[in-house]
Amino acid sequence: MSHYSIKHIEEYWQIYRKSVRNPEAFWEEIAEEHFLWRKKWDNVLSWDFKKPEVKWFEGAQLNITENCIDRHIYTRGNKTAILFEPNNPNEPAEHITYKKLHERVCRMANVLKSKGIKKGDRVCIYLPMIPELAVAVLACARIGAIHSVVFAGFSSTALATRINDSECKLVITSDGSYRGPKTIDLKGIVDDALETCPCVEKVLVVKRIQSEIQMKEGRDEWLQPLLNEAYSDCVPEIMNAEDPLFILYTSGSTGKPKGMVHTTGGYMVYTAYTFKNIFQYREEDVYWCTADIGWITGHSYIVYGPLANGATTVMFEGVPSYPDYGRFWDIVQKHKVNQFYTAPTAIRALAKEGVEILEKYDLSSIKLLGTVGEPINEEAWHWYDDNIGKRKSPIVDTWWQTETGGVMISPIPYVTPTKPTYATLPFPGIQPALMNELGEEIKGNQVEGRLCIKFPWPSIARTIWGDHNRYKDTYFSAFENMYFTGDGALRDEVGYYRITGRVDDVIIVSGHNLGTAPIEDAINEHPAVAESAIVGYPHDIKGNALFGYVILKDTGESRNHDNLRKEINQIITEQIGPIAKLDQIQFTSDLPKTRSGKIMRRILRKIASNDISNLGDTSTLLNPEVVEKIIDQVIVKA
Ligand code: PRX
Repeated sequence: MSHYSIKHIEEYWQIYRKSVRNPEAFWEEIAEEHFLWRKKWDNVLSWDFKKPEVKWFEGAQLNITENCIDRHIYTRGNKTAILFEPNNPNEPAEHITYKKLHERVCRMANVLKSKGIKKGDRVCIYLPMIPELAVAVLACARIGAIHSVVFAGFSSTALATRINDSECKLVITSDGSYRGPKTIDLKGIVDDALETCPCVEKVLVVKRIQSEIQMKEGRDEWLQPLLNEAYSDCVPEIMNAEDPLFILYTSGSTGKPKGMVHTTGGYMVYTAYTFKNIFQYREEDVYWCTADIGWITGHSYIVYGPLANGATTVMFEGVPSYPDYGRFWDIVQKHKVNQFYTAPTAIRALAKEGVEILEKYDLSSIKLLGTVGEPINEEAWHWYDDNIGKRKSPIVDTWWQTETGGVMISPIPYVTPTKPTYATLPFPGIQPALMNELGEEIKGNQVEGRLCIKFPWPSIARTIWGDHNRYKDTYFSAFENMYFTGDGALRDEVGYYRITGRVDDVIIVSGHNLGTAPIEDAINEHPAVAESAIVGYPHDIKGNALFGYVILKDTGESRNHDNLRKEINQIITEQIGPIAKLDQIQFTSDLPKTRSGKIMRRILRKIASNDISNLGDTSTLLNPEVVEKIIDQVIVKA
């Protein structure tokens, strides 16, 4: 009998040791006992990080929606699967039972089929956080189409890049979306994007905000009438364990976004097992993850992980500040939320509003709290613990990535003693290593290094869509025979891990990964800009904010700098989305460079952070004099 739910720290260690000693046997037991397979695997695992290639449960057949929906219909058909809380607090919440979810997913699946979508086709989903988003994801999985969800805050250019990269045939979107007091014209963004996407044949449109929109003849159709007519059952496509389930784009430090490919069997096993243990979910619980399904957190811990466990998972359409900063707590009270999972940036923003607002709400249903997406600072951790968890609800600080598919390092609540700012211990099956710059593993405790993983786990992304070489270069080239995470970490005296942040040119702003290169490329498109460099600097709420150093082409011309700043941010909004806007822009005449012409971001980061005490040796720079100049501009003015 596998230990599907871990209850004591001794049990954790026992299971952890077993998972490392014989990973195949460990995962096989879990896969065997807790899931519905149409055919069992011939081989649990084959892998080679040199190629790189990883295959779990090869030869097995399944459909993930049978595991997430069908099998629950008999045991908990009338239980709420998805609890939808709309943007407007006066609009009633919607309880979608497992039975109803089955029907809705089947109808949507049949609509997709009727539009010619087959196993292996890519479908882009660009929707707000409404039930149709989860339903569309599951409908694709039902028929074996590969979903590519694009966060509905991305611009038309960013959307087009993602649609074209994976050659999506069909897009599911809505007439618009609500975001607090605002409405956003999503369909207009899709229309703009599709001007450069010849691969898209059909667009299905959900009516959400009842706005007047353009429907392109022959391409666009309202979804609801099609759903009404569709048959309410749909035989699931039988998938191989290693068939792709979805593509999800994440920013790289250079180049275009990386379409991380996740496959079916291993992803299901890992997200379900981690969900069960990390959130200690019990049958009557109401679980809420505040992420958007446009990110991996939403894929794994709003949709697949919770539903594979027959859980009730909340989907919230709105924002934490609407109609006021009590909204999260209002929802917790209203739906008696037991597990609450959010990002440090949200915690910091809510903490800033003070504790008075909390007094209005009954938060006693909360049993545990989670955080994800970026390092949580000590102050935010304590605020969360004191005011939301009332010091009785463990905080699970979960470290993981789009690429890892599921949580990798995290306390198990009530099992692992927590420590503020520490993600603590690896999940069973996860073998972390800290590496030094010479490529050697740093053994022992009280050490710091680059965080790698030594052995595959079931939900590791298998490739980058269309670019396996980039997959190899990005994750498997820095350290031999290791998956390199791009993060730095330290291991304390008892072996707990603390993630210290990115060691590459990815900056995490409000929990969103942003590559510097794509932002710089966008800025450089402004006709007045010659060159630019983006760095991150600490920010009270967002964790990091973006600082742009910009060189103008014609320095003699006295253009209005404030207008230029606005124009630069406008270009970034158009090319990427508002999440990538710069907080500060400094115009400068030059950038510090090495003799080989590389921008010294380390120095720029320090200056932006107002920390010039230890800039290191600048004499080897091509243009050392520029450092003083920039310091004068930035520090004196600040
Ligand atoms: O730097 C780490 C940070 O977020 C990165 C992954 O971002 P993304 O792929 O967007 O996935 C976010 C949600 C899983 C990581 O490389 N990160 C994520 N969780 C934590 C974290 N940093 C510190 N502590 C965490 N708990």
